[in-house]
This record gives sequence, C-alpha cells and structure tokens, in this order.
Amino acid sequence: MSRSFNLAVLPGDGIGPEVMAEALRVLDTLASRSSITFNYHHELVGGAAIDAVGKALPEKTIKTCEASDAILFGSVGGPKWEKLPPNEQPERGALLPIRKHFGLFANLRPGICYPALTSSSPIRPDLVEGGFDVLCVRELTGGMYFGQPKSRTTLPDGDIEVIDTMVYKKSEIVRIAHVAFKAAQLRRKHVTSVDKANVLTNSVLWRETMIEVAKEYPDVTLAHLYVDNAAMQLIKAPRSFDVLVTENLFGDILSDDRAMIAGSLGMLASASLGKPKGDGLYFGLFEPSGGTAPDIAGMGIANPIAQILSAALLLRFALGLEKEAVQIESAVKKVIDSGLRTGDIFSNAPGTKKVNTKEIGDAVIAAL
Ligand SMILES: NC(=O)c1ccc[n+]([C@@H]2O[C@H](COP(=O)([O-])OP(=O)(O)OC[C@H]3O[C@@H](n4cnc5c(N)ncnc54)[C@H](O)[C@@H]3O)[C@@H](O)[C@H]2O)c1
Repeated sequence: MSRSFNLAVLPGDGIGPEVMAEALRVLDTLASRSSITFNYHHELVGGAAIDAVGKALPEKTIKTCEASDAILFGSVGGPKWEKLPPNEQPERGALLPIRKHFGLFANLRPGICYPALTSSSPIRPDLVEGGFDVLCVRELTGGMYFGQPKSRTTLPDGDIEVIDTMVYKKSEIVRIAHVAFKAAQLRRKHVTSVDKANVLTNSVLWRETMIEVAKEYPDVTLAHLYVDNAAMQLIKAPRSFDVLVTENLFGDILSDDRAMIAGSLGMLASASLGKPKGDGLYFGLFEPSGGTAPDIAGMGIANPIAQILSAALLLRFALGLEKEAVQIESAVKKVIDSGLRTGDIFSNAPGTKKVNTKEIGDAVIAAL
C-alpha cells in the first residue's frame, strides 16, 4: 500500500538549513526503498522570515503547517535579530506562537547516551557505563507558567508580595498521561511519574490521575517519585528510567538536567505534540533541542544527528512509521559505533575520526 505524507519543512536560521538538508536526505533514502512518499513544503521562519517578509512567523508558513501532517523544524535566532523588540525576535515571534497556535501540549525529549559516547557525559563513568536512554515527557501548556492569578503587589507596610498560581485540569493530566503510556508501550514499558504529592494539591490530582490512566495500559508499569528525589535519581541511576512524565515546571528543570548528563546538544532531538490524530498519532513539531549555533553556522561542521533523530520522532509520533523510525535510530547508533564524530562530540579517542555535517549524513544513509 503506497502512503503519501505532507511535511512542512521550516529550516530557520544558522545551522538549521545545514542540518535539515541531511535529515531530508535520510528521509529521501527511506522513501526511495519503500512505497512511502514525503512531500516537502519548505517555508520561511525566524530570522530568515524577518529578513524576507518582515515577520518571524508569516501567515503563509502557518497555512502550510495547518495543511501538513507534521512540522519538521530546524532552529531560529541569532545575533542579527537580538536588537528587535522581544515579541518580534525569532524565538518569541515564531516558536512560541507556533506552539500556541497548534496547542502543542506535550514535549518529548529523548535523552540517549550511546555506550560509545559515555565519555561525553559529565557524570561518573561507572554511572553511565553501557549508556542510557530516558524519554522525558513534559506537560507544556499548564501549571505555574500560565496559571492565574499572577501578581506583584507592594503591601501597606512596604513589603512586596508576589503570586504565581499552579493550575491543572484533570483533562490536561489525562491527555499527557496517555502520551507517556503510549510512548512507553513502544519502549521498555515503564513510566515514572514525577510530582510533589506530599506537599501540592496539584500533585495529588496528578498522581491519582496517573494511577487511573495506567489501568488502560496493563502492559506498562508505573512508579512515582517526588521531584526532589527524581533530580537525584537522574544523576545517580539514569539507567533506572524509561519514560519520565511530569508537569510543566518540574519538566522544564528535569529535562535540562537529563539533557546535560546525556552529553552534547547536537545529539538531542525533541517533539512537541498537539492534538491526537487518532490511532495513537499526533500532530506535532519536531526539532533539535539545541539552537542555531551561530559560532559554527555556515561552516558545514554542525552535528546533524539531533535533526535526523527529530525526523525519526516525526515518523514515530506523527505518521505511525515505527519501523522506519527504528531504522533511522539504529543507523545513527551504527555511525556513532563506527567512530565518526563531528567536532562537538570528538574527543581524540582511539578509533574515532572527525568529520563534517555531510559526512555524517552520508554515513547514516550508508548505514540504513
Ligand atoms: N528552538 C530553537 O530554535 C532555539 C533553541 C535554543 C536557542 N535558540 C537560539 O539559537 C541562538 C544561539 O543560542 P545558544 O548559543 O545559546 O545555543 P545553541 O544551542 O545554538 O549553541 C550552544 C552551543 O552548542 C553548540 N551546538 C548546538 N547545536 C549543535 C550542533 N547541532 N552541532 C554542533 N554543535 C552544536 C553550539 O556550537 C554552541 O557552542 C540564539 O539566538 C537562541 O535564541 C533557538
């Protein structure tokens, strides 16, 4: 059965177009050997869009995304646009409005530390020996960042009082729980839910809801950790995690914690998922965790692996092409095992060779 998919391709700025080119070559290779067709719809976003049409997120770009099955995103921003008013800058003016427009409520960040790259991790070698693979699922649209009221008041006695409010609806917890359990079904079938149920009313509902939703996934085991303990365990025993699911603020902190212990930014993909499309699939935006790397942009030496692995996440979560996603992930692992390294992960270790962006793309395609 032939299948055809429309992908909005938004390379953005800096290294975005360089790493995007390699991800598309990888997708083309998969398509050339199957009955799958990917129709790419290239659009401007970020600084490139500001320069061309005066706006970080042009209407045409939104329309193309709306008409697509998923968005493959590079990254946006750079020194050239930093003097613009904050809301017009590439990140605030493009990325945040896209997330809002498409209701992208779940942020997934796989943190994979490959066995051959454990020396890139800043934590003790014996703790990461053999590598690890933790998927962090963060709720992205609720909690303290958006809850009302928010205020800052000077009190009659001159003291200052500030208020932030943590708000969650049960329905918001249910939908993120389903994302986490479905993701775990494709992995090692273990979910760790992180909360602060010994202190926060929000967390009590969070925990109750996780337990309730878990009943629909009898093949997946569920464990709970308080957020302070989770921060410790991620450093002490990263291999004990499979899928970690948590609310917005805790996820913001823990996902960076986990990204850091995995090594280079150039290796880390991410997915922001929106409304379910049915059959466990989601509309979403798929992008590297890092930024536009202005220090190396245009030199052809950026690591394209985060972008290539973002394309694999797109296949898995937006298109349901699990087999093809695994093929890409296995090919990347083979390339790392073969010793090829871009500068960000090169350490002069025996058996390794420093290569450029295109050479990594070539190697992933050969490994496919
Ligand atoms: N989602 C996004 O679009 C996004 C995310 C973060 C930062 N940014 C923007 O990117 C610009 C630069 O930000 P920054 O310097 O703080 O972060 P950055 O992630 O761009 O770079 C940080 C360091 O990591 C390196 N790096 C990142 N990705 C790499 C890759 N694929 N290969 C090799 N090395 C890589 C860079 O060379 C740099 O030394 C800023 O304008 C920022 O706003 C955009």
